[in-house]
Amino acid sequence: MKGRYDAIVLGAGAAGLFCASVAGRRGRRVLVLEHNSEPGRKIVISGGGRCNFTNLDTKPDRFLSANPHFAKSALARYTPRDFLNLVERHGIPYAEKRLGQLFCEGVGSARRIVRMLLDECAAGDVDLRLGAAVTRVDRAECFSVEAHGEVFTAPALVLATGGLSIPKLGATRFSLDLAERFGLGVVTPAPALVPVTLAADDLAWTAPLTGVSTPVVARAGTGPAFAEAALFTHRGLSGPAILQASSYRSDSDAPLTLDLTPDAEPGFLRAAKRTRPKAGSRTIVAMHLPQRLAEALVPDDRPLADWKDAALEALESRLRRLTLQPAGDEGYAKAEVMRGGVDTRALSSKTMEAIAAPGLFVIGEAVDVTGWLGGYNFQWAWASGFAAGSAV
Ligand code: FDA
Repeated sequence: MKGRYDAIVLGAGAAGLFCASVAGRRGRRVLVLEHNSEPGRKIVISGGGRCNFTNLDTKPDRFLSANPHFAKSALARYTPRDFLNLVERHGIPYAEKRLGQLFCEGVGSARRIVRMLLDECAAGDVDLRLGAAVTRVDRAECFSVEAHGEVFTAPALVLATGGLSIPKLGATRFSLDLAERFGLGVVTPAPALVPVTLAADDLAWTAPLTGVSTPVVARAGTGPAFAEAALFTHRGLSGPAILQASSYRSDSDAPLTLDLTPDAEPGFLRAAKRTRPKAGSRTIVAMHLPQRLAEALVPDDRPLADWKDAALEALESRLRRLTLQPAGDEGYAKAEVMRGGVDTRALSSKTMEAIAAPGLFVIGEAVDVTGWLGGYNFQWAWASGFAAGSAV
């Protein structure tokens, strides 16, 4: 019968397309409704156009969630190797960058991931409707969804409309609102993997450093430490170390702590005083940090011999534990992802189906599972999409 499907997937992004292809290949009649005129827009811009599509070091501890155990089952049942097999089968060239991150090769090659997902959907006879804004969702015996003046029905409805980051790409609260309507809880969403803005006192000395990038070990509050680069911006800080730490800013007053000299031996300033007593303190510091940053932090360039050991120790500890006070963050317009989302307590960790609303599934970024930077968010999209696609 026209308009009747086994499953309707809302959102043709990473999780939705993958879920639809898995279900379609199992012989299910699947419809995907996407309000944009193009599928997978975030995939296209991801990884600077090369899509960091997974991470070989995927482990549950690389994900934030109110329930840190929730992601384990889905991640174990669909691994980076599984997705890599698919990528290899489609002949997409890729390379490992640092830290287990796998990227497609070539400018604009992220489009090949979208093409692959569309080809997989086509192989499963998935019906994909673009430019289809959903205007109504009801549930009686089946779910009925109205889009474009047409009504579609199915016993399974998969919410895959993603998170709130980058509103100009069509991000909406749709899945969160609908989940709430069906009685599911929502963990308050917030921007994550996002540049941090600094309070006026700190910005006064950091803003002139805009454009300076340096290796650090960064931590927000009591969150984990991230050893990567930080970048000074005119509003605060960015760069991978800061984006990673930003996801752990659950307490908005929590300071950011930076070790600016992660590669220097402990006691390096006192050691230099013995070996190079005539060298200026700033000269030695600038061997470990960019010159402009050394100038901002060490105005006093007296020879090391003129420094008391205690003063050198105090300087080193400032460099190792620079504490900066965030004012906030740059919001969803600049955030790579949203943290929070549909409360995992409402979902089966095996299938992503709502426990209290059978037939309703939530996958991808709309779920309260947020990955670190480095391909983890796509791996969650594939794994949760696979879980639901195998169950609908
Ligand atoms: P996704 O956002 O992919 O898809 C949701 C879909 O639903 C979209 O097509 C949207 O238009 C549609 N939709 C929304 N509301 C709707 C409605 N009301 N009706 C119908 N359709 C609707 N991750 C990673 O692992 N590696 C990386 O390299 C990057 N890089 C990256 C760069 C940038 C700039 C951003 C913003 C994000 C990344 N990410 C990333 C994160 C990654 O893109 C993200 O986590 C996944 O795309 C999430 O997949 P979903 O399918 O859940 O949402």
